[in-house]
Amino acid sequence: MSNLIRLVYVSTSTSPIKVVDGAVHSDIGRILMQSRKNNPKQKIGGVLYFSNNCFFQCLEGEEDLVNELYQKISTDPRHENLKRILVKDISKRQFGDWSMKYVALKDNVTGLLEKKGMSVFDPYVFDENMVDEMLSLFITGVDSTPPDQNNNNASIKNKTKGLFSKLFSK
Ligand SMILES: Cc1cc2nc3c(=O)[nH]c(=O)nc-3n(C[C@H](O)[C@H](O)[C@H](O)COP(=O)(O)O)c2cc1C
Repeated sequence: MSNLIRLVYVSTSTSPIKVVDGAVHSDIGRILMQSRKNNPKQKIGGVLYFSNNCFFQCLEGEEDLVNELYQKISTDPRHENLKRILVKDISKRQFGDWSMKYVALKDNVTGLLEKKGMSVFDPYVFDENMVDEMLSLFITGVDSTPPDQNNNNASIKNKTKGLFSKLFSK
């Protein structure tokens, strides 16, 4: 078993994606479905954010598996100009329950950018401190995926728990 790492990269969508407040764009929905199907098998968790036509994704898991996934993602024609902005060994996961959380925290991110004197979301210039602050917002942020698409580990566990208590409550 190799060590745990956190890898954060940014990239630019090859086709413009217009995110409407409160909705998950179908292109992003497709990425989330693939992630939520594949990542649990590799025990990879993380979070995805999209703004200003840029993706910001954090992947956590065993080093070899995260690097393998990153190689696969980096050949995906849906995005380009990938840049790893943080790679570090970790002792504990920040997104343990999430195969891929999706947050649409536009107001919170805008607030953070303003605090840092940035007028647009340009993750290519983020330093380690800014990456950590972004991740802190995402840990507490509510997932924006509609409940029927939201098949993260925690909600599956809750659904299973509900089913068992229904079966055995009588
Ligand atoms: C921004 C972005 C993030 C992605 N994140 C993941 C991911 O976390 N896990 C994953 O399996 N695929 C992810 N993908 C999709 C992969 O590039 C690839 O299309 C997919 O894993 C193929 O799945 P399959 O082997 O089941 O066909 C991502 C793609 C993009 C553009």
